[in-house]
Amino acid sequence: MIAQIKHDIEGLEAIDIIRYVAQKYGSDAVFSTSFGIEDQVITHLLAEAKSKASIFTLETGRLFPETYYVWNRTLERYKLPIKAYYPNTQAVEELLSTKGPSSFYESVENRKECCFIRKIEPLQRAIKGFKIWITGIRADQSANREDMSAVEWDEANQIIKIHPLFHWTLADVEQFLKVNGVPYNPLHDKGFPSIGCQPCTRAIQPGEDFRAGRWWWEDKSKKECGLHVTTK
Ligand code: ADX
Ligand code: SF4
Repeated sequence: MIAQIKHDIEGLEAIDIIRYVAQKYGSDAVFSTSFGIEDQVITHLLAEAKSKASIFTLETGRLFPETYYVWNRTLERYKLPIKAYYPNTQAVEELLSTKGPSSFYESVENRKECCFIRKIEPLQRAIKGFKIWITGIRADQSANREDMSAVEWDEANQIIKIHPLFHWTLADVEQFLKVNGVPYNPLHDKGFPSIGCQPCTRAIQPGEDFRAGRWWWEDKSKKECGLHVTTK
């Protein structure tokens, strides 16, 4: 299955990969958006291809105000429904009641606990029942991601994952946004190439690694929240 899709999309442009998924999977496809620049490109392409894929976002409760701004601009521009998934109320209540609102700074274990409650568990609900999951991942975002592939089997979630922009560079993404007037998060112009939750994301300095601003207090090898486990 994965080998077949890989073969079918070999050498295709991103828009043609989106069209392929639309034609082959229709409403069995789902796209996760964090409203980052890559995801904005994908939303634009889904609209262009008149895809029937569902779109969702994981509303962790700790997003930047600018993320809500671009969420609104995206709804206005594309008029596509975007479903919001929230963390389980009881789990968040328990976490903050026992460990306070900033436990993620204290240890990797605590950080992963917060990511599980605010992202992973809601993600599992969001992709349940779908056959293929579209993301905005690019290979050159991190060393971990270079080891991934444009199409992969997600063993943990039992779903096919496809990354239509896998071979795009940051410059390709920025050029696409500009040419097509795609709305994007204003933080991107303030040194934030990768944007997650507010307390866990900071701006980077010129020359710093793309993901240096994510969980910046942690060792480089740990900088993934678990949404994307590397498997081939
Ligand atoms: S993360 O693993 O570090 O959080 P990253 O911000 O690079 O992920 O985004 C990679 C892809 O994960 C995005 O293109 C998007 O498909 C998905 N993603 C990340 N954060 C969210 C979110 N809050 N809601 C929905 N999808 C998300
Ligand atoms: Fe919690 Fe930070 Fe993970 Fe967001 S990125 S879910 S605030 S630990």
